[in-house]
Amino acid sequence: MTETAHTTIHRHDYRPPDYTVESVDLRFELGEDTTLVRSRLALRAAYDRSGGERPLVLDGHRFVLRSLSLDGTPLAPEAFQVSAETLVVPSVPASFTLEVETELRPQDNTFLEGLYRSNGMFCTQCEAQGFRSITYYPDRPDVLSIFTVTVVADRERYPVLLSNGNPLDRGELPDGRHFITWHDPFRKPSYLFALVAGRLACIEDSFTTCSGREVSLRLYLQEANRNKGGHALRSLKKAMRWDEETFGREYDLDCYMIVAVDDFNMGAMENKGLNIFNSCYVLATPETATDTDYQAIEEVIGHEYFHNWSGNRVTCRDWFQLSLKEGLTIFRDQEFSADMESRGVKRIADVRYLRTAQFAEDGGPLAHPVRPESYMEINNFYTATVYNKGGELIRMLRTLLGAERFRKGMDLYFERHDGQAVTIEDFVQAMADASNMDLGQFRLWYSQAGTPLMEASSSFEAADGVFTLTVRQSCPPTPGQPDKQPFHIPLVVGLLDRAGRELPVTLFGEPAPGPTTRILEVNRAEQTFHFSGLDSEPVPALLRGYSAPVKLDYPYRPDDLVLLMAHETDPFCRWEAGQQLAAQVILSLVADQQAGRELKPDQAFVAAYRAALTSGEPDRAFLAEALTLPSEKYLAELMPVIDPEAIHIARRFMIHTLATQLRSDFLAVREACRSALPYGVDDGRSGERRLANLCLAYLMSLEEQAITELCIQQYRTSDNMTDTMGALGPLASCDCPERSQVLEDFYRHWQGDRLVVDKWFSLRALSDLPGTLDDARALIGHPAFELANPNRFRALVGAFSQNQPHFHAPDGAGYRFLVDQLLRLIPLNPQVSARLLAPLTTWRRFEPGRQALMQQELRRIQALPQLPRDVYEVVEKSL
Ligand code: ARG
Ligand code: ZN
Repeated sequence: MTETAHTTIHRHDYRPPDYTVESVDLRFELGEDTTLVRSRLALRAAYDRSGGERPLVLDGHRFVLRSLSLDGTPLAPEAFQVSAETLVVPSVPASFTLEVETELRPQDNTFLEGLYRSNGMFCTQCEAQGFRSITYYPDRPDVLSIFTVTVVADRERYPVLLSNGNPLDRGELPDGRHFITWHDPFRKPSYLFALVAGRLACIEDSFTTCSGREVSLRLYLQEANRNKGGHALRSLKKAMRWDEETFGREYDLDCYMIVAVDDFNMGAMENKGLNIFNSCYVLATPETATDTDYQAIEEVIGHEYFHNWSGNRVTCRDWFQLSLKEGLTIFRDQEFSADMESRGVKRIADVRYLRTAQFAEDGGPLAHPVRPESYMEINNFYTATVYNKGGELIRMLRTLLGAERFRKGMDLYFERHDGQAVTIEDFVQAMADASNMDLGQFRLWYSQAGTPLMEASSSFEAADGVFTLTVRQSCPPTPGQPDKQPFHIPLVVGLLDRAGRELPVTLFGEPAPGPTTRILEVNRAEQTFHFSGLDSEPVPALLRGYSAPVKLDYPYRPDDLVLLMAHETDPFCRWEAGQQLAAQVILSLVADQQAGRELKPDQAFVAAYRAALTSGEPDRAFLAEALTLPSEKYLAELMPVIDPEAIHIARRFMIHTLATQLRSDFLAVREACRSALPYGVDDGRSGERRLANLCLAYLMSLEEQAITELCIQQYRTSDNMTDTMGALGPLASCDCPERSQVLEDFYRHWQGDRLVVDKWFSLRALSDLPGTLDDARALIGHPAFELANPNRFRALVGAFSQNQPHFHAPDGAGYRFLVDQLLRLIPLNPQVSARLLAPLTTWRRFEPGRQALMQQELRRIQALPQLPRDVYEVVEKSL
């Protein structure tokens, strides 16, 4: 079943397809034992046949070929060749019909790719290359076709039969089966095909588009979850309106359907008119989902909806262009969320993710440019680099062009390429044409991997009031790219005086006063900027809004950072100042810990922290971000050689110090943030809840009976999952007798709710307590653990591998646990396995002992016979 040919595909080898598909008719007969698929393709040669005939090569695997005929005549066995992954017909006419019958067993498909079963329903996942496990087809994004799909199934078991587009016909069959025929009027590549069949509840709504068309919105879910889809549907309507208002994009079909499935490899999928979602991005009630879950649902619903234009109407020519749709759509969903929530807080969350997940990729053996040059398995390239760094590139383009010209560029892109499969180059060209800007150097962001480092320094000439900022940029080598050329970087800066007031930023030689914020275009290895008209030495606010995905190094003094924390107007810079201050302090504690010195509180930091905690900052969510110490993973990014133990101890020490010295402040702020009112999803109090729970987490580090009781009381009286988790998180790391009782109670109460049970597994896997690895091992044997369900596997094993001190236990037991479990998962689900290998691939960042242990575990995987391509690529490239 497993493909073991490990060939590398190169971007430069791209050739247009020899044959295009004018139309495709599919008929699915879904059965409990076998499923039959009949496909009729209208094919046409797309090359000049005077230069000789080319064979028809179609992709296909993992099914049984039942029959094959060309223009109505069965093909003789010698007229075609079947290999492990293709069907070749050496000689075909210029235009013809090919009929293919295949037989599948979706119930045995644990890869969750192509057609499979989840919880009694049939569903599909075809991106990137799942369609080829359904039938023979030119399974590439630049072959667009018109799909007509008939789904036939037992009427009782599968009353709901769905595919893309609009229903054309339906009827009963004599044997208790029924059918529906769907027609999608938009040409699309096979990766956007979808089919769903099951006994599903449906909640409905409608949306009137800006041109007055009525669209029927339908959300399909298990009957037991009927009450959990309201938020997703409301989010969909918000997204539809937002895309009209922000980008002038209107929806184009009569219905929009979303289906929630429990077994899903990734987050969700934008199939035309029929999105299929991991149920964790659909289902929510106040009792089962946290505020963060609610926001994630809104964002992912938006993301998949926005793909209808950025991905479906205009799609990718080949998979190297993946960021064309994903980077752009991430940018669009980030902007959507920013408009729905607090813009500054959203930006901070996005930066936090980029700087942990994406920077780690850029610094590791799998580093690749936003537009990769080669791959073995494309599923391995659905990465933070392609998605999130790709999104940052779009954001930089908007910064450089300005909002208005950027919008013109977007309009031009959609207008020029509607209905086409295009490249990143086409997108950048539309931006250049709409703005008359030279984006030549900017294009390097797409081809050069690695995180650029910007080293800034400054000087002040008091005599003439000139402040000079010097910026040097460099980019470390990455696999296959030893030398880098300078990037075109928008560096957004402001200047503050010693009282924290914003000063005009006037470039030397320009009329004064300049604006209070401005975009410096950095495009050389070293550059100097002079600012004039300054009475005293200013404090620069650098990289406002995090204007470029770089590491910035500027020798801020602690008092500069304290000033920025208190006065800077840009939320990112204000937050970043606190993070830098905290990172400086924690890293010096790390050094003390490593040298065996006693850890001592840093009183200046405690004072700055107290000032923030008691500042009365009205944006409570922002304050919570500001009071959250840099994560262990981010601190690790800042160290030349990562010491997970010392980082953990130093960070815990800081938390404990703050809690000890600011105990009453934490209690008071928590009290002030708590409300007697019942929870409401859009009650505007999520920031308060977040801050209150942060205070509680600090206080719980004191391991005081009175605080533990407060925490348990919060657990017992909570009417929402946010506060429940706010109490359970710290309790899971608390060595107190109540811990196990409470965790037991939670499980008993929620055992019927899969998504909540996932939370329970993660809580335990993320605990600080010494026995966490043993607990994780024991949980593998828990009746609720399901190896083949990606959410459950990630909840336990994936979460454990994020538990820095335990995963990186010096004896290698954490690594061994991960690989023991992956060895079981690989045969069932190579795609998810390959992704979960990521934490081991960064072994070069650790000291020799851990390096050896991590490599040893990777080699255990390497030694498997018949390694699937997904896993093979990750292991080979990282060893
Ligand atoms: N296009 C989807 C999204 O980002 C992701 C699907 C990826 N699935 C996969 N198996 N590679 O919205
Ligand atoms: Zn996407």
